[in-house]
Amino acid sequence: MIQNVGNHLRRGLASVFSSRTSRKSASHAGNDSAMADGEGYRNPTEVQMSQLVLPCHTNQRGELSVGQLLKWIDTTACLSAERHAGCPCVTASMDDIYFEHTISVGQVVNIKAKVNRAFNSSMEVGIQVASEDLCSEKQWNVCKALATFVAHREITKVKLKQITPRTEEEKMEHSVAAERRRMRLVYADTIKDLLANCAIQDDLESRDCSHMVPAEKTRVESVELVLPPHANHQGNTFGGQIMAWMENVATIAASRLCRAHPTLKAIEMFHFRGPSQVGDRLVLKAIVNNAFKHSMEVGVCVEAYRQQAETHRRHINSAFMTFVVLDADDQPQLLPWIRPQPGDGERRYREASARKKIRLDRKYIVSCKQTEVPLSVPWDPSNQVRLYTLEDDKFLSFHMEMVVHVDAAQAFLLLSDLRRRPEWDKHYRSVELVQQVDEDDAIYHVTSPALGGHTKPQDFVILASRRKPCDNGDPYVIALRSVTLPTHRETPEYRRGETLCSGFCFWREGDQLTKVSYYNQATPGVLNYVTTNVAGLSSEFYTTFKACEQFLLDNRNDLAPSLQTL
Ligand code: COA
Ligand code: ADP
Repeated sequence: MIQNVGNHLRRGLASVFSSRTSRKSASHAGNDSAMADGEGYRNPTEVQMSQLVLPCHTNQRGELSVGQLLKWIDTTACLSAERHAGCPCVTASMDDIYFEHTISVGQVVNIKAKVNRAFNSSMEVGIQVASEDLCSEKQWNVCKALATFVAHREITKVKLKQITPRTEEEKMEHSVAAERRRMRLVYADTIKDLLANCAIQDDLESRDCSHMVPAEKTRVESVELVLPPHANHQGNTFGGQIMAWMENVATIAASRLCRAHPTLKAIEMFHFRGPSQVGDRLVLKAIVNNAFKHSMEVGVCVEAYRQQAETHRRHINSAFMTFVVLDADDQPQLLPWIRPQPGDGERRYREASARKKIRLDRKYIVSCKQTEVPLSVPWDPSNQVRLYTLEDDKFLSFHMEMVVHVDAAQAFLLLSDLRRRPEWDKHYRSVELVQQVDEDDAIYHVTSPALGGHTKPQDFVILASRRKPCDNGDPYVIALRSVTLPTHRETPEYRRGETLCSGFCFWREGDQLTKVSYYNQATPGVLNYVTTNVAGLSSEFYTTFKACEQFLLDNRNDLAPSLQTL
């Protein structure tokens, strides 16, 4: 029976990975999507906006103000969402945005938005912003953004029609949109967890207070009255308008610290917690939470109230923005230190440091590894050609790949003995061989440290099955999955963990050159941890995979005799 499980896993893993490798040949097959990629095709939800930047759109530096840009982005995205939904839509959230370029007066801003995927009542809209110099014809990418819009109809709950992606790019966006939605919905909890677990050394006590600017000096409070031009035809305030007001107060707070004109570099996720309408008063508050060497974090919070009920304030939104101050050569200048207020101020100061670390982790992963962290696409057994990984309602799978300078058979042997895994994977604290079922199948008892706020360590009972290639071109496979054993029942000492299906594939790419893929289907218990990594909010996966590479390199000559049999 164990043999069957092993074979089943092997087939599963092999089809997942082989379908990934055969993707290239599929794109030469002259199929539907290749036609869709060609000229003449336009996504039916695509909306474009082009705006000439005039002096009235600029900030104190003579560049397009980010607030104005956010209004245009929100409008374009909303029109795309409404084109698909066929009814009014509101902004639910806008993911993190990193601005690569500023835009000058006289240039043109080109914005393109399209719906990547529709869920039940919500849609993910992808937005691309580029700037164009009319005189030189040069173009620059300014930023990408992802917004979620929710469709609203008066009486019935909306059930949106599905999007059918056609081009390769649309298919990719469609598939990752599901993962991004999952991450968005747990975003607040993920950040809370990370903040709780992020050990940040602060030097508040040791700093020379006389050279610090009290954070209090940067505090801003401002009120806005929502008028009809700020709202849609149903009277709901435009999300873009609120973001623009938030950017305005954040810029004032940042300027009060540096006494110069700061530039906004990044915005962390906006989540519109509740609606506001024409007639609402919006109170916007901002303060510099922390100043680092060359950048500062400003936090903004927005509350709404009706005229007659000032004490009943609704929390509409909070956001964190990163500013820098650029000199004449566009180099970031040194910033003064900040002295936070005791209590909330010191808490926000520490949280801003933790957020900065999280942002850097994420940027690192996104910038250098994004293509190597393929996310899930829908599993379609009839079409194994485009499959990357497996996804259904409950499970998220991920897959990492690297090329190592080690022979494939050697890498296979080194990683198939789970007892050596603690040498490179800190999630494996101890491994005991429980039963050697046959030459290629073994059961292990694994313990691992407590994860994500749990106090108890975890343990697993894992069946490891390894298979050599049947044909040339087939990979070596190691498949792992949890099994139950009467001799190793759950004990009070450990939380019993489960791995549904994980493992490695090894492809010989050349002499002493192997492509190693790691595949894992996460269970709900570790989902948060996995999405944190997939989102790039943590670089732990990457670090572990690099440690695996080092382990293979360090031990590449260990197993020479046993290789003769492979
Ligand atoms: N990011 C992305 N989507 C989110 C989300 C978030 N943070 N929170 C909820 N959603 C999605 C849900 O996934 C769900 O999508 P689905 O129907 O496709 O499954 C949809 O919103 C509705 O979720 P539900 O739980 O029924 O509603 P809710 O009580 O969480 O309300 C909003 C969600 C967005 C409708 C509500 O918060 C709201 O009205 N916000 C203000 C919107 C607005 O007016 N914006 C303009 C500026 S004020
Ligand atoms: P938190 O206090 O946990 O950071 P909030 O949503 O209350 O979360 O606030 C978000 C950010 O808005 C804060 O980090 C802070 O920078 C800013 N902020 C909140 N309240 C005020 C206030 N009273 N005055 C100035 N800025 C504020």
